[in-house]
Parts: sequence; structure tokens; C-alpha cells
Amino acid sequence: MKNKYDKIYAEGRDVLGTAFPEIMAAFEGYESLTILDVGAGQGRDALPLARMGHRVVAIDPSRIGIAQLAEDANAEGLDITAIVARVEEFKPTEQFDVLLFDRTLHMILDETERHAALKQCLPWAKPTARIIIADEKSNLPGLRGVIEADGDWEMTFAAKGFVFYSRKPPL
Ligand SMILES: C[S@@+](CC[C@H](N)C(=O)[O-])C[C@H]1O[C@@H](n2cnc3c(N)ncnc32)[C@H](O)[C@@H]1O
Repeated sequence: MKNKYDKIYAEGRDVLGTAFPEIMAAFEGYESLTILDVGAGQGRDALPLARMGHRVVAIDPSRIGIAQLAEDANAEGLDITAIVARVEEFKPTEQFDVLLFDRTLHMILDETERHAALKQCLPWAKPTARIIIADEKSNLPGLRGVIEADGDWEMTFAAKGFVFYSRKPPL
């Protein structure tokens, strides 16, 4: 499985810079979450989130990104499971407190396929889960439509390039 990020990640660590503060802030005040980091790359989010005490399942089709992430996680003894997989093919064995898509969904160029990939992930969310998305501003209305069509989600944060949701509490 080749992808263009193999070449980018081969240039060195941290090629995408540090994590977005908006994303890190979404984890303040939470402890011991289980997080699915979809398209985790080199671990720009997975590594700091695991350092906060969360458990991260990190998937990405880039073998190089995942190998670097696994090496860095092992070196620090972090609780990260790093898996080479495209989201479309991934079959999780558990549900998660947070589904995180940090600039991953725009990598699926076809809009119908992009929306199908997000929809397929929604059953992987626990009843109290949150969804955190960073993506192209132009993609966000469509992605919001997928989540809102699922019915029981409320938007908790929206800013340029970001949209976050939480499950609505049961009535
Ligand atoms: C812009 S990078 C973001 C990486 C990481 N989330 C971050 O913020 O540093 C996009 C990532 O999506 C991954 N990707 C591309 N297609 C994917 C797919 N179908 N399923 C999961 N990840 C994918 C790429 O390999 C790449 O690591």
C-alpha cells in the first residue's frame, strides 16, 4: 500500500508541525479516554494525547508514518496501537470515546466516498462519544450533514476548518 505521505514522512519527524491547539484543547479536563485517530500520520496528535494518559488506536495507510509513530510510542512507553490501514477497510474490535479525523477526510477525494467513510465510522463511537474533525472548510458542510443525519449528535464547536460533535444525552 503506497501513499504520497510515505515520501513526506520519510523527510523526517514532525513534518506537519505541532498539533492544532483547538484539538488539544478538546481533551483538557478528560482522563483515560480511548481515541481512534483516523489518518494519524506520524502521530502529531496521537503522541501528545497518549502523553496525557489517553489510549490511542492510530490508523494510517502510510507504512512509514505508522512505523515512526510506533517507534516513538515504544520509546516513551505510550499506550498507542499503531495500525497500517485505510479507514475504509478498518474493522475495529471496540468502540471509542473520541473519533478523531485531523485533516484526513479530505484525502478521500471523491465526496460520496468521503461521506461513506465517515458514516461507516459512526457505529464505532460509544454512547457518550465525541467526534473531532479538522478538514478543508469547503468539506465541512457535507461532513456535518453525514453526522447530523445520524440523528443523535450535537455540534459543540465550529471554527474555520474545525467541527466537533458530542452525542446528545438520552432524553
Ligand atoms: C494531512 S495528513 C494528516 C495526518 C495527521 N492526522 C496529522 O494531523 O498530522 C493526512 C493523513 O491521512 C492519511 N490517509 C490518506 N488516505 C487515508 C485513508 N483512506 N484512511 C486513513 N488515512 C488516510 C495519510 O496517509 C496522511 O497520513
